[in-house]
Amino acid sequence: MKLTERSVSRALLVSSLVVATTGAALVLATSAAAATTLGASAAQTGRYFGTAVSANKLSDSTYVGILNREFNMVTPENEMKIDATEPNQNQFSYGNADRIVSHAKSQGMRVRGHTLAWHSQQPGWMQNMSGSALRSAMLNHVTQVATHYKGQLYAWDVVNEAFADGSSGGRRDSNLQRTGNDWIEAAFRAARAADPDTKLCYNDYNTDDWSHAKTQAVYSMVRDFKSRGVPIDCVGFQSHFNSQSPVPSNYQTTLSSFAALGVDVQITELDIEGSGSTQASNYQRVVAACMAVARCNGITVWGIRDSDSWRSSGTPLLFDGSGNKKAAYTSALAALNSGGTTTTTTTTTTTTTTTTTTTTPPNPGGGCSASVSLNQWNEGFVATVKVTAGSSAISGWSVGIALPSGATVTNAWNAQRSGNTGSTTWTNVSFNGQVPAGQSIEFGFQATGSGSGITPTCSAS
Ligand code: G3I
Repeated sequence: MKLTERSVSRALLVSSLVVATTGAALVLATSAAAATTLGASAAQTGRYFGTAVSANKLSDSTYVGILNREFNMVTPENEMKIDATEPNQNQFSYGNADRIVSHAKSQGMRVRGHTLAWHSQQPGWMQNMSGSALRSAMLNHVTQVATHYKGQLYAWDVVNEAFADGSSGGRRDSNLQRTGNDWIEAAFRAARAADPDTKLCYNDYNTDDWSHAKTQAVYSMVRDFKSRGVPIDCVGFQSHFNSQSPVPSNYQTTLSSFAALGVDVQITELDIEGSGSTQASNYQRVVAACMAVARCNGITVWGIRDSDSWRSSGTPLLFDGSGNKKAAYTSALAALNSGGTTTTTTTTTTTTTTTTTTTTPPNPGGGCSASVSLNQWNEGFVATVKVTAGSSAISGWSVGIALPSGATVTNAWNAQRSGNTGSTTWTNVSFNGQVPAGQSIEFGFQATGSGSGITPTCSAS
């Protein structure tokens, strides 16, 4: 495995290599350098940076050149979907998917499988099925395909897009849903039985905003699955953003809240329509949000060049149609690199060479600031509090909030609370105390009464 692909602890990584040398002198060389590709940079903090790949582009040398240079995770864009892998019932077809897996393996990249059970891109024979026959066919598909790739994938999107958009907070109607509400957990159990060592994910879009009904509905399902032992390991946030669906201000809260349920979180299909500095700053925000959540394992963009995108007219990716790096690339790379600095020290003696690589958080120590946004209604409010580290990283924080008289906290998330009226103090929980320089985390609470005029103060530890 390449050094750049190793999982490394953000706090400290030491690797030792002993080789025989013929030199007689002591050589000491120290270098501190930010990684220069997306995959290598993500690997510095134990994360990956991936892309969707189409099998029919593996003969395009510009495409493959960027793929091999920049990425260390691959998702087949269409080749593992149901219509591709089981075009006729019980006749499985893995040619294009296997081509992608084999290319990835030859480059030391890993693969996210996408997807085993979905209402869309079903082959005709499945679209025409219902009831127990469809349930059996779906489970057979999950079992067969997961068995074919057993042990070869990093993760599977077991179920894709099963929840309804809008405010209903319910499931999406589909032939699969009509087989019974337990179809999702049945799919996860079948996938686990077939491939016990691959992470099993639920994947969806429009689940990025913590306040949206769809996000909360998926959150409730994951919490329920965890409490009942349904085998789920991760949640994928597709994160297709544009002006109608912008990067939400509480995106990091969404990631950290799901992670707090005991699942990994991954950004699985990232693209952000736009151009120039606006697009660059949106990419920075998304990458920084993942970097700030320990269980955010990695980010996958949904294609390489703008021209490869399903939304090509929105130029939503990191490389232009000619394969040049865009401003969005530069800002995404910078956000990945801000997760830590890697220092490599090489010491050579007459008999040994020891390479020590230390990754430390940027600028330990320093202060913080806090701001609040309020969603007030007649009888109460929800406060979302943003804690931002100053010019140095912080490893813990405490926020003081004086509540107006009559306001009483009824519910809170992502912070430990002392007091629920008057003077209250909020401190970090285990997963959100470490905040890199200039970056933010969010916590929140719901209260009765009015939140008008509250002004949080922040101190760092
Ligand atoms: O390959 C055929 C080509 O031979 C034919 O001439 C052409 C005519 O329409 O179609 C081509 O297939 C298209 C395929 O993409 C490959 O380009 C399909 O029609 C088209 O439906 C398919 O779209 C894919 C879409 O999923 C289908 O739902 C996109 O590539 C793919 O990026 C997109 O990915 C989805 C994720 O799986 C789930 N989340 C949303 C995301 C974006 O829609």
